[in-house]
Amino acid sequence: MCGIVGHLGPKNSVNIVLEGLKRLEYRGYDSAGVSYIDEHNELQIYKKTGKLENLKNLLGDQDFKARMCIGHTRWATHGEVNDTNSHPHMKDHISIVHNGIIENASTLRKQLTASGYEFKSQTDSEVFLSLLVTELAKGKGFKKAMVDSFAQVEGNSAFVVLNKDVNEIMSIKKGAPLVCGINEVNSEVFISSDPYALAGMASKLYFPGDEVLCHLSASNKNLLNFYDLEGNPTENYMSKNQDMSVGPTDKGDFEHFMLKEIHEQPELIRSLTQFYFQGEGLKSLLKAGEFKPSKFHITACGTAYYAGLLIRDFIETFNRIPCSTELASEFRYRNPLLNKDEASLFISQSGETADTLAAQELCTTNNVKTLSVVNVDGSTLFRNCDDNLLIRAGIEIGVASTKAFTQQALTGRLLSLSLSDELKDETKRVALTAKFSLLAEKIDHLISRSEEIKTIAESIHNHKGFFYTGRGKYFPVALEGALKLKEIAYVHAEGYAAGELKHGPIAMIDEDMVNVALVGPELFEKTISNIQEIKARKGIIVTIGPKDEEELEELSDYYFGIDFDGLDELSPVYINIVNQLLAYYIAKYKGTDIDKPRNLAKSVTVE
Ligand code: F6R
Repeated sequence: MCGIVGHLGPKNSVNIVLEGLKRLEYRGYDSAGVSYIDEHNELQIYKKTGKLENLKNLLGDQDFKARMCIGHTRWATHGEVNDTNSHPHMKDHISIVHNGIIENASTLRKQLTASGYEFKSQTDSEVFLSLLVTELAKGKGFKKAMVDSFAQVEGNSAFVVLNKDVNEIMSIKKGAPLVCGINEVNSEVFISSDPYALAGMASKLYFPGDEVLCHLSASNKNLLNFYDLEGNPTENYMSKNQDMSVGPTDKGDFEHFMLKEIHEQPELIRSLTQFYFQGEGLKSLLKAGEFKPSKFHITACGTAYYAGLLIRDFIETFNRIPCSTELASEFRYRNPLLNKDEASLFISQSGETADTLAAQELCTTNNVKTLSVVNVDGSTLFRNCDDNLLIRAGIEIGVASTKAFTQQALTGRLLSLSLSDELKDETKRVALTAKFSLLAEKIDHLISRSEEIKTIAESIHNHKGFFYTGRGKYFPVALEGALKLKEIAYVHAEGYAAGELKHGPIAMIDEDMVNVALVGPELFEKTISNIQEIKARKGIIVTIGPKDEEELEELSDYYFGIDFDGLDELSPVYINIVNQLLAYYIAKYKGTDIDKPRNLAKSVTVE
């Protein structure tokens, strides 16, 4: 969602903030802005809707001398997308950027308006600015005014404030991602919503806890200080060395990051298994499998939730431990039954998804062990869980998740192997490595057939709607395939259990409706019957199923035969690669913004 970057130091702050914002572009946004103190000690503000490039054009070719700057990429929540609603927001000598939602904004807005404050924007963020200005006008110091303003807002937010009067940046957050960084050699201090923005710039990172005031100032002995709400120094933060690099943001020869990330999957699978079966990951994997709970609560959102459905199948099939898989946004408000002998498993690429974090907190509060399957090392989810398994997908730039899904599902399989204690045996690990390598090899082969998938996409891209169907272990990937198509091609698609269509949605089938049928070797005949039902109603059949199956081929308008041999439980991950490529090429024919689809954000930090 919104991206925040701030910098204070002797180097040109505006350029550094712009570089940080550029790195956050992948998260999705609709406007961008910066605010800085110029060489004449004037507070400047520039903001523009659209891409960062628009903001850069507005800034022009200036030779900035700024020593302090905050910047923002906005993903609109309160108020339409326009220049005025873009961040930063400024009043007198204060400018602010905000990530999150102020839930009581409209009440506060009425009160502040009644007491004479004139709002310029429709945003909830400006409410915090007006609170702050009001508190400062009462003669309070910056720190105290921040705390007292923060106390009045409800919901999860991170605020970063630049105060020209005192030449300081101050920040506070609750339930929203925030990281500070320092580079002592260059006497620089940074703040951001995402450590990736600071890669290669800050040498050390500090993740503040909730309700910790982060104070960035050049006039202190320490460039960065943390205070509690009483204004006392606090150690309520986690620090770590910054070891991220910026390298992988290059698309290389690929037209889109999404395509590049699809192509990365075979190599990532190899390196995942090497790390967990032979390398330094084995210890953490064995540890994650030590506790055998009576039940797993698997919780996640979107694509990660669908990976959770696959993980549920792995754990229930191989470990016979019951699992419930739930959407985090529902789980958190459902008052679920939670017991101490159970465990909870959270799946997330970003590790910053607001609903998933809330679900995790609920489990911790109820003394249920928490475990994550997560991509971003050091993310909030990673820090808050008792135990973590990193999926090692590398940075995922395409908003539509591809490689993270694959790695999440496979890491879940590794967890289930660990739960059954199979990984303690070297011979078994070698055999398992061979199975995962086979998957990587077969995915390589699928990718080499991309042109065939592209041809199918060309023929079907203009149809009005799509049903993705699958049974058993292929049902979760039917859901995932439909989601992928919806988000990047903007066409209506639904994932359905193949046997369920006749209980309602079959009414929608006609000659303009496509059925992408995911067929595996299991429940083969039954799935064929389901396809027949759609065919009989003139639906267009695209089958992705076992190769050399004449019956299937005859039944299908388009048939993409694949080789499932030896993959067993890993086959849904395999078939899903075709889903990814099909969605990609359909979107390409439709001419959408594949890497940054409209209305979407990479990391959903509001509920
Ligand atoms: C879809 C997609 C989303 C995410 C969801 C959870 O392609 O990426 O559905 O899976 O927003 O995000 P994470 O995994 O970061 O918790």
